[in-house]
Amino acid sequence: LERVILPGYNESLKIHNEILFPNFCNELLKIKDLKLRPDDTFVIGYPKSGTTWTEEIVWLIQNDLDFEKCSRQFHFERVPFLEKEPLNKIDLLPAPRVFKSHLTLDYLPDKIEQFCKIIYVMRNPKDMLVSYFNFMKSIKGIDYNGTLENIIEDFSQDKIVYGNWCDHVNQFYSNSNILFITYEDLLEKSFEIVKKIVEFLGKSYTDKEIERLIEVTSFKNMKSTSTQLSRFHSDETFKRIDFSLFFRKGEIGNWVSHFNDQMSSKVDDLIKHKINPNIEIRYLP
Ligand code: A3P
Repeated sequence: LERVILPGYNESLKIHNEILFPNFCNELLKIKDLKLRPDDTFVIGYPKSGTTWTEEIVWLIQNDLDFEKCSRQFHFERVPFLEKEPLNKIDLLPAPRVFKSHLTLDYLPDKIEQFCKIIYVMRNPKDMLVSYFNFMKSIKGIDYNGTLENIIEDFSQDKIVYGNWCDHVNQFYSNSNILFITYEDLLEKSFEIVKKIVEFLGKSYTDKEIERLIEVTSFKNMKSTSTQLSRFHSDETFKRIDFSLFFRKGEIGNWVSHFNDQMSSKVDDLIKHKINPNIEIRYLP
């Protein structure tokens, strides 16, 4: 099988990629032939954009608000990470499947958005980069010694795994079959956005149920549940992640404490001419 490399794959992030995504090079091509089911749902976003949070909301919506199972079974056992899990395992999973992915449509089965529901989550790139930087530093066994400036430089050269951020966002934004949400809206207008996801998935829940769903998927709650449940999880990849650090801040605008003016204008300049002008990016609460 041909070796398929993701956009953004580069030497400085190589260890990161190989530890986190052991199946990348041999399984990536096969994802195109994934046997889709009409009740499959995909949650997609550029890394560190709030994908895990969105997945938890979507998983609950798709599973009749099974809060009990959600508190008992580790998130990534319920929501397979598409590009990490072996496809033969994925084929056997019971319906309804909810997948996590950071892949663009180019890597996914053709016309996937016509067969299955896709929810895309975008986060402002400055908060995303701070989150990415801290995530890199927190992975056990990597000893990442780069700086946030290094990460921003990688970002400017499309060397962050999954490639150019604007291309990623633009592709999903311009596809009308896909529900496009933002991290910032999900945090500040939780009820409205969750209701939108519920409707998009063709479900119906009472306002009270939606409020409970928001409470269960709060930053504080997900942090404590995932930190506890991850201790019993044997997967090598997830053992390298400290979930008490993975759920780090969960805020809008944390970048302000980490960026100087130069870093901020560098990101602004990169995005200005490339991002679809209809997309509104909110950097502050
Ligand atoms: P921070 O590092 O800024 O805290 P992803 O899941 O795509 O890797 O994104 C991770 C980011 O989402 C982290 O951001 C994490 O804290 C934040 N996050 C995870 N769960 C959240 C929740 N329930 N509410 C708000 N933010 C959440």
